[in-house]
Amino acid sequence: MKVALASDHGGVTIRKEIASLLEELNIEYVDFGCDCTTSVDYPDYALPVAEKVASGEFDRGILICGTGIGMSIAANKVKGIRCALCHDTFSAKMTRAHNDTNVLAMGERVIGPGLAREIAQIWLTGEFEGGRHANRIGKITEYEEKHL
Ligand code: RB5
Repeated sequence: MKVALASDHGGVTIRKEIASLLEELNIEYVDFGCDCTTSVDYPDYALPVAEKVASGEFDRGILICGTGIGMSIAANKVKGIRCALCHDTFSAKMTRAHNDTNVLAMGERVIGPGLAREIAQIWLTGEFEGGRHANRIGKITEYEEKHL
């Protein structure tokens, strides 16, 4: 698995925590910033990461901002992206099992680095259940093919 990781200035601490988790799990990743000495705009980080996942260059993306909301809104604009904003471990597990999400968003002003690490680990290792859930995702993909 290859992961694209990025944050805005509001998510630097959690981004570093996730980078160390990825290293521990021996998961290949690229950290796309930000350097964040000043305030930056989250779409400038969410959209390139989402495009890299949608194109197949990366298997998954992890995005962090202050709330995770801006990152998730932007990532979900990219065709083929299913980005879940998760601040609890149950959602992280279920969004892999039922939604086959390929991008995870979190908010550093909402949760701390310890919980973010647990959420990311569960999300990275969780398997998609397929079956009826695949049919439901198929309906989203069909919509994307027709309208986007
Ligand atoms: C930046 O101040 C903040 O708006 C951003 O990190 C994020 O929370 C947006 O959704």
